[in-house]
Amino acid sequence: MAVDTIPVETLTEEQAKAELQRLADEIAHHDALYHGKDKPEISDADYDALKRRNDAIEAQFPQLVRTDSPSQRVGAAPAGIFAQVVHARPMLSLDNTFSDEDVQDFVSSVYRFLGQMPDNSIAFTAEPKIDGLSMSLRYENRKLVTAATRGDGTTGENVTANILTIKEIPTELPADAPDVVEVRGEVYMAKSDFLALNAQMEAEGKQTYVNPRNTASGSLRQLDPKVTANRKLRFFAYAWGEMSQMPAETQWDMVQVFGRWGFPINPLTRRLSSVAAIIAHYSDIGLQRPDLDYDIDGVVYKVDRLDLQARLGFRSRSPRWATAHKFPAEQAFTTVEAIDIQVGRTGALTPVARLTPITVGGVVVTNATLHNEDYIKGIGNSGDRIRPEEHDIRIGDTVIVQRAGDVIPQVLDVVLEKREAGHTPYVFPKACPVCGSHAVREKNEKTGKLDSVTRCTGGFVCRAQAVEHIKHFVSRNAFDIEGLGTKQVDFFFESDDPALMIRTAPDIFTLKARQDQSLTKLENIEGFGRVSVRKLFEAIDARREIALNRVIFALGIRHVGETTAKLLARSYGSYAAFAEAMQVAGPKFGDAWNELNSIDGIGEVVAASIVEFFKEPRNLEVVQRLLSEVTPLDAEAAVVSDSPVAGKTVVFTGALERFTRDEAKARAEGLGAKVAGSVSKKTDYVVAGPGAGSKLDKARELGVEVMTEDEWLALIGG
Ligand code: IVH
Repeated sequence: MAVDTIPVETLTEEQAKAELQRLADEIAHHDALYHGKDKPEISDADYDALKRRNDAIEAQFPQLVRTDSPSQRVGAAPAGIFAQVVHARPMLSLDNTFSDEDVQDFVSSVYRFLGQMPDNSIAFTAEPKIDGLSMSLRYENRKLVTAATRGDGTTGENVTANILTIKEIPTELPADAPDVVEVRGEVYMAKSDFLALNAQMEAEGKQTYVNPRNTASGSLRQLDPKVTANRKLRFFAYAWGEMSQMPAETQWDMVQVFGRWGFPINPLTRRLSSVAAIIAHYSDIGLQRPDLDYDIDGVVYKVDRLDLQARLGFRSRSPRWATAHKFPAEQAFTTVEAIDIQVGRTGALTPVARLTPITVGGVVVTNATLHNEDYIKGIGNSGDRIRPEEHDIRIGDTVIVQRAGDVIPQVLDVVLEKREAGHTPYVFPKACPVCGSHAVREKNEKTGKLDSVTRCTGGFVCRAQAVEHIKHFVSRNAFDIEGLGTKQVDFFFESDDPALMIRTAPDIFTLKARQDQSLTKLENIEGFGRVSVRKLFEAIDARREIALNRVIFALGIRHVGETTAKLLARSYGSYAAFAEAMQVAGPKFGDAWNELNSIDGIGEVVAASIVEFFKEPRNLEVVQRLLSEVTPLDAEAAVVSDSPVAGKTVVFTGALERFTRDEAKARAEGLGAKVAGSVSKKTDYVVAGPGAGSKLDKARELGVEVMTEDEWLALIGG
């Protein structure tokens, strides 16, 4: 297996290092094409996938993060919902350091750059690196006029309306403040507020959030400031942008001035001069980290004197006068008390280690995923060893667990010295622990290798699969039914009362009718009050008409995620057209099969899975019952009525010279055309550039109209 396809969890350190280098080079190449020449070679989605892989590897191997890593480059370009703000001074990033030695090097480099002997004469500030979102607050004539996110460092998003809901941020500055002031700092959500919000979400049967940072980010990017106002966000000031006049001469004094102006400033900031003192403060902050009410991921050191900062200046994206000393991914020792098997919606058996509770990075960890049978044995997805042979994970073993950022806790390794005679190798079940059906590892048709996932073959018989399916059905991106969270779904699923039970998704929509005719009233059951029952029924009724893509996603067809569901909805337009095509389709033959496969973004595996779903009578029965309760709304055909290509299907093939593939596709779709990946009888136009091959031949064979890129441009009006 090539290194670039090895799952991140199974990379060795050496492979990870090579991959990070490759990704840094590749992403830099695409950045240059995108920004410099406006001629990208890959789609945004592919680009994002590269960045995500880079981030995931870095989360796993924080010690390997490169100074030229794409993650260190200033964030992504703004998404376009909010108005754009060009920063008066760019918002920069920080270099990272990971070891005491790195810190020594940083300090030495400052002295060297300034041509001074390292004599502890230069002071540095040391302050926590807050894990939130950076924000630039612009005041003109002492009034807050604009609040902007960092965006790509040059241009951010105008989120002023949302920032105004943060009470900690002054909207006015005192009379002695300069005319133009840009205060910069971090917006974050306190851990306690995050936990309270999640408790509330859970009580309301809504999905909980992952971590304070993502929640803060989502809250800030709400279009409705009322939502932001409900999520208590906070702020720490630590930097500045444009200033019509400087109120102080050092980093320390600047921040003190911000404090006097009414901004929250971080109390753990110190001004120190020796490397030893800096490192001691870093350790001290590290010790306090679990008890702080906000997430931090390191300590930032900055040269204190602003005249020295000015002399030191910047490298490409980060100042020479500052660095972020990151905390290592947190690890701890604990014991495996048990290994449980969870059965998911698609029948996957996932082993989970139940651990003696242990605090890792301020979070109590009691479970860690063990992924699959091979992972327990110490074998990665590619078949390579990820731990030495005898380091298989056994019940009773002492293990090292790691938690890094958002990543689910992992069992990294076994402490062999602590293994006792009674700890026997774990035997992975051959049957589903929930329904008793055979559990098998399927063979991958292409590679001939055994899949790493063991699956329950019970299908509908399996209660675990059924209940997980309902949870998926009501989840945020599917039917999004408020008031039906995990707990409530479990309750309705377990109930034997005909007036309460929900065994399949359509039962959700008959619940009220069954309640109306019954004496067992939901509102008398603990956990459901009158109001919440009324709200639940309202939430259910609100989904009786629902977007087609949500319905398709909610069906829970294997391999059909949100994106594929959207593609299908757009391509077929209506549920009837989709279902009819799927029932007559292939597998692997016929027009309907070819049409499904011609959708750009749908490959054979996905297509086969969809077709298989519609061949199963039990699925058809459930879908039929659902459709007697719910009306899928036809997908919004983005048809521009006066466009000559509206409703037409077009295939681009060969090299395009005037557009990138993605751009051509976006333009065509914007005009209401469908863009397909392969040529069929339903294709209206084939736009062929130099080097076009089999698709062009096929078009000629089928008599489909072929045109050049220029002819296409003339058709769509240039
Ligand atoms: S100073 C020119 N100080 O870290 C340097 N940044 O990796 C400006 N951050 O974009 C940044 N706490 O979002 C600075 N005390 C702190 C910080 C801090 C968190 C974030 C900030 C910045 C990122 C750089």
